[in-house]
Amino acid sequence: MCGIIGFTGLKQAAPILLEGLARMEYRGYDSAGVAVVSAGSPAQIRLEKVSGKVAGLYEKTENGAAFPGTCGIGHTRWATHGAPTDFNAHPHLSQSGLFAVAHNGIIENFVPLKKELLAKGYTFKSQTDTEVVAQLLEDNYNGDFQQTVEKVLSLIDGSYAFAILCREDPQTIFAVKKNSPLILGQGDGFNLFASDVTALVEHTRDVVYMEDGQYAKVTPDSIELFAEDGSPLPLAVTRVTLSVSAAEKGGYEHFMMKEIMEQPEAVERALTPRLKNNEIVLDGFSLTKEDLAHFHKIIITACGSAYYAGLAGKYAIEKLCGLPVDVQLASELRYSDIPIDDHCLLIAVSQSGETADTLAAVKECKAKGAKVLAIVNVVESAIAKQADHVLYTWAGPEVAVATTKGYTTQLAVLYLFAVYAAHVLGRLDDAAYAGLIGELRQLPEAVRSALKLDCEMEDLAPHFKDAEHVFFLGRNTDSALAMEGALKLKEISYIHAEAYAAGELKHGTIALIDKGTPVAAVCTNEALLEKSLSNVIEVWARGADVTAFVPAGLPGSEQVRDYAARIVEVPHLRGIFASIAAVVPLQLLAYHVAKLRGCSIDKPKNLAKSVTVE
Ligand code: M6R
Repeated sequence: MCGIIGFTGLKQAAPILLEGLARMEYRGYDSAGVAVVSAGSPAQIRLEKVSGKVAGLYEKTENGAAFPGTCGIGHTRWATHGAPTDFNAHPHLSQSGLFAVAHNGIIENFVPLKKELLAKGYTFKSQTDTEVVAQLLEDNYNGDFQQTVEKVLSLIDGSYAFAILCREDPQTIFAVKKNSPLILGQGDGFNLFASDVTALVEHTRDVVYMEDGQYAKVTPDSIELFAEDGSPLPLAVTRVTLSVSAAEKGGYEHFMMKEIMEQPEAVERALTPRLKNNEIVLDGFSLTKEDLAHFHKIIITACGSAYYAGLAGKYAIEKLCGLPVDVQLASELRYSDIPIDDHCLLIAVSQSGETADTLAAVKECKAKGAKVLAIVNVVESAIAKQADHVLYTWAGPEVAVATTKGYTTQLAVLYLFAVYAAHVLGRLDDAAYAGLIGELRQLPEAVRSALKLDCEMEDLAPHFKDAEHVFFLGRNTDSALAMEGALKLKEISYIHAEAYAAGELKHGTIALIDKGTPVAAVCTNEALLEKSLSNVIEVWARGADVTAFVPAGLPGSEQVRDYAARIVEVPHLRGIFASIAAVVPLQLLAYHVAKLRGCSIDKPKNLAKSVTVE
């Protein structure tokens, strides 16, 4: 997500900060900034911030030359609180310019703190939670930089990594870590730190990985590490051997694999903050029974994988809420004559929030009176801005063209909405509601355990590597999942793959099944296991080479073994939520097949990450 860097030493800081920010660009961001303590008496903190790319910062600072000074901090921001504007970009200055702060994470109690500061006469230039920290530092300053930092840390709740400058102590930076990464780098005549090792390895390979609750005082000659209570800690220096490009990808060969592996944390971010005291609390809005009862139908609209997430979400919403859900490709919906009025809730699903067809469908439906709920990843994106309500998926930046954590977090939020709406509509008694919340809480762990299938999928990949066609079959929720599995394989391995609702086979498609035809049978829906088995038998009888994906330990699933050449056991989850774990081996399989075929995994041919044209 966001990137932080701090440098203090004998050389000019700004060019080093800019280069570090550029190295962290791959993480995704929407604005950037630097702050440098300028030499002279009195010292001053100078600041430059831009919405958009680090290139803009290079331009505005004349490649750093316009910002002389040997101590400074920098930041790339991925918007959370407040739009990605110059004002909201970090670092933030305190009222009189005494402190500058760059921050990754969230200050949970920033609202009451801001109220207190406003009452004391502080004014704010941004909508961010971070500016509160800069003002708090100034408000609590007693002439001792370190004591002031400690005091402010005791006042704030949340997760963070900070880089803090103080005009009165022009060579020192404080680096603070709690639930957000920060790595210290030891140099000769300088010291630096960053949220990402890629920003350090050009300068030093001797690093200290900070632990949560620690803070560090960084000067040109020393790094002192402290525990939360201020007691000094030894520096555990390790030597980094990663190349810069490997470090960017967190040590993975491709962004896609990195993002697959990030899914448990991403799903956790999408769900856990919204599950408070066994209640689902939506972000900044709620819907009453009357609001929901007003809707006669829900339309979900999206493109590509987001559309398949919508298909899977449909089953959960219909089952739990009893409302009809129509899932429409945005490119079709925008030109259709489907009756839409103010009794329709449109749910627009999009990772980027910029997909042209989805945006156009949202505008069309809004104009016809529909209320719009956006489920998007990118904060303040065009679709988020059009919507009446937004549920962010909090997947973090997704770089690989093939979506993985974008998709699973969309599923998580759709499930969350289904349970929320069913409860508001009075369709769940307390026990059922608590039970479903308990199941939602288990999803990150189920995704984590599905990642253990990586080696098994690598071993499975050679069976698919030379296939001309692969068929993905599934029923109900599994049919949505089969579609996502087929799309993943198609887009990164260039193997023709088709997904079919398994019951449809005998209406035509089965004519394509011959001896050795590869079939991926997705059989995770426990209620329909017997039916899925009958379809497996149909293709097996025609000689298909079946790989079946079944829930581990599900009674009855052992029968599939008699007809499938291979069984992949996925974590066993309740029917409507099962897809979120079962999709993981399908992503991994596509990845390993594409890798064996030597394909360009992160940037497949002919594809763009965000399709912002029709
Ligand atoms: O940004 P969006 O979620 O709106 O993008 C929609 C599709 O373009 C996207 O899911 C696409 O299908 C992916 N490449 C699939 O991996």
